[in-house]
Amino acid sequence: MSVKYTDIRPRKIVIPGLQKSYRFLHITDAHILLYDENETPDRADYAAPRVAMFAENGISTTRRLDAIWTYIEENAAQLDGVLLTGDILDYPSEPNLAYLRVKLDKLEQLSLPYVFVVGNHDWAYFNDYHTPHSKQADLPRFAAFSGGNTLIHKQRIGEVTFIALDNTEELYADGLAEALEQALQGEENVLLMQHIPLCVDTLVPDTVSYWNRDINIGATGIQKNENWKKVQQLILAPQSPVKALITGHLHFWHMDMLGGKTPQYITANAANGSAALFTVCGE
Ligand SMILES: [Fe+2]
Repeated sequence: MSVKYTDIRPRKIVIPGLQKSYRFLHITDAHILLYDENETPDRADYAAPRVAMFAENGISTTRRLDAIWTYIEENAAQLDGVLLTGDILDYPSEPNLAYLRVKLDKLEQLSLPYVFVVGNHDWAYFNDYHTPHSKQADLPRFAAFSGGNTLIHKQRIGEVTFIALDNTEELYADGLAEALEQALQGEENVLLMQHIPLCVDTLVPDTVSYWNRDINIGATGIQKNENWKKVQQLILAPQSPVKALITGHLHFWHMDMLGGKTPQYITANAANGSAALFTVCGE
């Protein structure tokens, strides 16, 4: 019996004026759950049932991500980059981080650039969740994958500029909107990457049906502060170079128009084998 390990779906972003066509594989929410004997008993007890819970059809999240990496290796010549929007790891254990490092090293060996932004799970254990300690001790461990700055970083691939924002504490930190405004200066073709989507009316019903509440940031969702309004304004400004948002977190597929204008793509969880193959082209 053959088992389907991956569900890679095509998506297309048209940016008028682009001279070339690009292909980016988007991966999010793999929830890798490796741990070893160095883990404290309570953390091991937490992880064990999640290994079973995330193993859709008995296939571990590690095997799912390995299968996506096999796809990358087989199609590297047709790809221009890999986009990762968080919760690749379920917690920052040593085996998880070592696994992630091997995966990202593989991309470098294949000469494939990647853009990595953290998710709410990557950098926090359940019993040290987004504490000052986890922020100080574990979040910075992802800086090496995030252009040296987990909060915001910018990377150009061909004619496209990716800007990655950390909104994993269910908010945009004070100063982040201003940093985004600066990062957008002089840019023409920006794709914004963040873990948690922004609220869009058309996204609310599916979010509430899956999660029992709106876990997106903004209007009908989570409003820990008001900074999302500034970020949204920058995205929707008349001359904004932001052409689309690429996000995850929700574990299902969706596409909505933010402000009726800018597409926000949500890719389903790689824990179930999902990934999106974006074609970014001029027409
Ligand atoms: Fe998440």
